Amino acid sequence: MKPTVAPMPQSRLRRLRRTPALRALVRENTLTPDDLIWPVFVMAGTDEETPIGSMPGVTRKTVDRVVKAAVEAHSLGIPAICLFPYTSMEFRTDDCAEAWNPDNLTNRAIRAIKDACPDIAVMTDIALDPYNINGHDGYVEDGVIVNDRTVEALVKMALAQAAAGADILGPSDMMDGRIGAMRRALESEGYHDVAILSYTAKYASAFYGPFRDAVGATAALKGDKKTYQMDPGNSDEALRLVERDLAEGADMVMVKPGMPYLDICRRVKDTFGVPTYAYQVSGEYAMLQAAAQNGWLDGQKVMLESLLSFKRAGCDGILTYFAPEAARVLNG
Ligand code: PBG
Repeated sequence: MKPTVAPMPQSRLRRLRRTPALRALVRENTLTPDDLIWPVFVMAGTDEETPIGSMPGVTRKTVDRVVKAAVEAHSLGIPAICLFPYTSMEFRTDDCAEAWNPDNLTNRAIRAIKDACPDIAVMTDIALDPYNINGHDGYVEDGVIVNDRTVEALVKMALAQAAAGADILGPSDMMDGRIGAMRRALESEGYHDVAILSYTAKYASAFYGPFRDAVGATAALKGDKKTYQMDPGNSDEALRLVERDLAEGADMVMVKPGMPYLDICRRVKDTFGVPTYAYQVSGEYAMLQAAAQNGWLDGQKVMLESLLSFKRAGCDGILTYFAPEAARVLNG
């Protein structure tokens, strides 16, 4: 569709910008708490929180505190919370068996949240990195991140999370064939209604740095993730990945990181028209918070503007560490 603009003075585009009422009337995109998914970090213990240095305002929380956070999120109108475990070193092994332990930190948190606050959707992360001695999302054999053996482990992880009551599974590992394998296993075990939000276009990005501090993976990680996460130079490849994940049974797709990849969000939404999400990752959060703390940016305004940019780019929702703060502001 070609935009129609009459010449001056028939058309003066400033007419509709003149007052708040007129601007509200013609606003094309809006942000509401409904658009937000809140990622939270879970740690062992009780009634404790520890701050994460590179993510001001974000803490790791014990399961009881995560439950409180979920209740708070629900009361703020946030529809979903997403769990990331901070696994202690003793549970990081070569075989990553803790990943599918029915009583691991994530699975305990899922059950506790579902008990206390059944109406909030609980999303998980599926990848081996929190449990892997070398910090990679898949098994490493002779320096190679192997695909098919990793997928078998991810399927076990998915089933354990589904059994714990997860509503949305979030495979973030970027192995090939994982979505199909998980979907087949979920169907055959009777978990027909567990949704998969695939980290479909996940780029090998330096913006994940603060997250790796938060989950204690920075020291462990040997090398980089470029043989499985996407090359930041690619865009067509993202569409091929979305097409494949949808064919394999993904219900929703994600682009990650967010702000540096808004062009990908737009292409995905325009091409497929499916529920599309962006992850405003730890590094994006850290940049905005650091500038705000220095008084260089208005923190509240850039938070809302950055989140609105995802809606404008075609996203249905955003995973963001700002979720509770943004919801509070949006709720007035
Ligand atoms: C790991 C995972 C990562 C993030 C979510 N899941 C980091 C990585 O791939 O190394 C990053 C989230 C963020 O930076 O906020 N499977």
